[in-house]
Amino acid sequence: MKISILGGGGFLGRKIADRLAREGTYAGRPITGLTLFDMHQPPAPAAGFPVTCLAGDIVDLPEAAMPAGTDVVFHLAAVVSAQAEADYDLGRRVNLRGTDAVVDACRRLVAAGGKPPRVVFTSSVASFSATQTDTLADGAKQIPGNSYGAQKAAAELILADASRRGFMDAVSIRLPTVTVRPGRPNKAASSFFSSIVREPLLGLEAELPVPDDFAVWVCSPRRAVDWLLHAGAMDTAAMGLDRSLSPPGIRIAVGEMLRAMDEVRQGSSALVRRVADPAIAAIVGTWPAAFTAKRALALGFVPHEPFVDVVRAFIEDDLEATRRERNAAS
Ligand SMILES: NC(=O)c1ccc[n+]([C@@H]2O[C@H](COP(=O)([O-])OP(=O)(O)OC[C@H]3O[C@@H](n4cnc5c(N)ncnc54)[C@H](O)[C@@H]3O)[C@@H](O)[C@H]2O)c1
Repeated sequence: MKISILGGGGFLGRKIADRLAREGTYAGRPITGLTLFDMHQPPAPAAGFPVTCLAGDIVDLPEAAMPAGTDVVFHLAAVVSAQAEADYDLGRRVNLRGTDAVVDACRRLVAAGGKPPRVVFTSSVASFSATQTDTLADGAKQIPGNSYGAQKAAAELILADASRRGFMDAVSIRLPTVTVRPGRPNKAASSFFSSIVREPLLGLEAELPVPDDFAVWVCSPRRAVDWLLHAGAMDTAAMGLDRSLSPPGIRIAVGEMLRAMDEVRQGSSALVRRVADPAIAAIVGTWPAAFTAKRALALGFVPHEPFVDVVRAFIEDDLEATRRERNAAS
C-alpha cells in the first residue's frame, strides 16, 4: 500500500502520517511507502516503512509526490479560510489550481497503466451557508459565503467528475471545524474555536470574538483522522456519482465549550476575554451549525464523542507538545 499526503506538514497531515507510522498497515495491507509533500519539507515520523518527505508547490506538483503505484492520496494542501478571503489570488491558485494538479497527476498514473488512486479530499463546512438554527440534510445545496468555501465546493465537483471519468476514485469529506487545534493560532477564521480552549489550558489568555451562545459544527482531531482514514479505505461503490459527504460532527455553543473545559480544568475559562470581531463573526456567521450526516453514518463513519472528551483528548495528545513547541519558538 503506497500512500501520499499532500499538505503532509500541516495539522491533519501530520496526524494522519503519525497514525499510519504507528500502525504500519492500512486497509488491511502493509504500508510499503509514504510520501509527505508540503511547501516546506515535512518532518518524517518514525516508521517501519520508507517515508519520503518533499517540499514544493502543489500547483507544480512533482511526479515524486505521487509516485507510480500510489494507492491512496490525502489531498489536504490548502490556503485556509481567512487567508483565502484576504488574498483572493492565492486562495484561488492553491485551492483550485492545486486541485487541478492532483487530477493531472492521477491521469498520469492511469495513463501509465496504474489503477485510479483513491483521493481523499478535505472540503469544509464553509462551503455551505445557513442560519444558526438550521440543520442541513445531506442533499442541502452548497451556497458558500466566502471564497474558501466556493473553492472547496468547486474542487469537490472537479474531483467527482474526475472519478466518473476513471482518473481517480475520490471521496470528499466536508470537515467541521476541527477543534482543539494544537500549536499556535492560525489564519483560519475558525482559529478562535481552538484558541479559547488551547490557550487557557496553556495558562494563556484568549479572545472570543462571538457571543457565548454562538453555535458551531465541530469535530475533534482524533475523529477527523478516523474519518479521513475511513474515506481512504471504504468501498465507494455505494456513493455513485455523489462523491461528497458531511461527517457526523457535533453542534455546540461556544459557552458550552467553555463549560466543558471548566469541567476538566476548573476555572480555565476565566482566561477567555470577550472581544467582538465583526470581520471574523461575518465569516463564521454564515457557516451552518448542524448537519444530519445520515449518509456518512450509513457509510460507516464513526459518530462523535461529547466535547468534554475532546478537551481531555487534547490534554492527552497535544498539550505538552504544544507547550514545548511554543516555548522553543519564544
Ligand atoms: N482544520 C480545520 O478545522 C478544517 C476544517 C475544514 C476543512 N479543513 C481542510 O482540511 C485540510 C487540512 O487542514 P489543516 O487544518 O491541517 O490545515 P493546515 O494549514 O495545517 O495544512 C494545510 C497544509 O497545506 C500546505 N500548503 C498550502 N499551500 C500549499 C502549496 N501551494 N503547496 C503545497 N502545500 C501547501 C500548508 O503548508 C499546510 O501545511 C485543508 O484542506 C483544510 O482546508 C480543515
